Amino acid sequence: MKRDEAIRKAKDYLVPTSLLSDIVPADEGPVIVRADGSLSFDTEGKAYLDFNSGQMCSTLGHNNPRIQKVIEEQSKVLTHASTVYYNVPQVELAEKLASINDAPLKKSIFGESGSDSNELAVLLARRATGRNAIGALTQSFHGLSDSTRAISFAAASTGYGPPMPDVHAIPTPYCYRCPYKSEGKGCCMAPLHFGMETLDRMAGGPPAAVIVEPIISAGGVIEMPVEYLQGLRKELDKRGALLLYDEAQTGLGKLGTMFAYQACGVKPDVLTLSKHLGGGLAISATVCSDDVSARATRNGFSTGHSHASDPLVCKAGTASIDEILNHDLMKRAVEIGDQWQASIRALQQKYEVIGDIRGRGLLQGIELVKDRRSKDPAPELAADVYRYCLANGLMFSVRGKYKNVMRFVPPFTTTNQQLDDAVEILEKAIRKGLG
Ligand SMILES: Cc1ncc(COP(=O)(O)O)c(C=O)c1O
Repeated sequence: MKRDEAIRKAKDYLVPTSLLSDIVPADEGPVIVRADGSLSFDTEGKAYLDFNSGQMCSTLGHNNPRIQKVIEEQSKVLTHASTVYYNVPQVELAEKLASINDAPLKKSIFGESGSDSNELAVLLARRATGRNAIGALTQSFHGLSDSTRAISFAAASTGYGPPMPDVHAIPTPYCYRCPYKSEGKGCCMAPLHFGMETLDRMAGGPPAAVIVEPIISAGGVIEMPVEYLQGLRKELDKRGALLLYDEAQTGLGKLGTMFAYQACGVKPDVLTLSKHLGGGLAISATVCSDDVSARATRNGFSTGHSHASDPLVCKAGTASIDEILNHDLMKRAVEIGDQWQASIRALQQKYEVIGDIRGRGLLQGIELVKDRRSKDPAPELAADVYRYCLANGLMFSVRGKYKNVMRFVPPFTTTNQQLDDAVEILEKAIRKGLG
């Protein structure tokens, strides 16, 4: 099918849903037909450096051979099974996840998306603690199901009816734009103190949990200061509340360690994983300790979506972890991240509009500003740069509170040459955007 026909049919038969429709509406963008490694191809045969890794689920590279083999073999054995009885690939994946996590994170529940893994984390925390109140950061994004919209303050969530009650926004430690401390290096801890005070008051008692991402992704690639996470852990421990990490974007090797919590040294009580867990297939996991599992079970916790723990996707999950371990992809993530940051820092010397460079490994952000002194956000420039890059074969996304943060998630398969090619397109785009 060629582009014109695909777009015509899409207009006839699909409800428009794109989150980037204000920059390039879906019917003006490419229609993707195939992909390979770090490249996606449209109906006209044009190649794109996919620095979005699809929707960040193909970070192992599109069409990873190990995942292809698993799909082929497992599809002849068992693709779907009951969720009320165990199946072997489900048990194997749970054991594998326990083996790559640090104690006491040991027990898993499987789902199909990042949204349902986070919803399960909230449900587990509520059942385990017997409390309701949940804190989430003002720049949070944890999904677009009804309950995760409620804990996603960075996402548009008006006009969909009342959100889930007893959820409270707490300030994001956004060092580059911190209102409490203008020159961000480290954390002054004011966001934590205001956040906990708000949460205590709003909850009318100790909360059940706070959910955070170790690097906030859609909210603008904001790195959480380690001191903030250490302080949050302490405050929650004092209250008998749980710390939930959404590692959809930071887990499974992307930042150079298997999980972000291993780098920052602050462990959560519940961890959620999704995105490339299935190597391109839809599976997510919510991982917790024996203690959290036992408390939730004692209080009557149960769940089960029809496709949760499908053997086909569980097999893909185990294969994707093996791929990361066997090919030392964590090391490759560091190399990619270092090369990328060196190139972007060189661009920053030339272009005043590159305000801040953030992220690690395969999760990188560039915040565009009108000038570095005022730090006034430059969303129009970000949109122009995005459009030029897309037209010239580089895909990424634009995120953040001001829609001025360009987010890049290249797959592990990206070569040094492809990184250079992407930077070249990006530089041309910035030059063009500046007129
Ligand atoms: C950190 C984070 N959590 C959760 C989600 C939601 O995942 P899904 O779209 O698979 O429901 C996303 C999606 O981008 C995400 O970035």
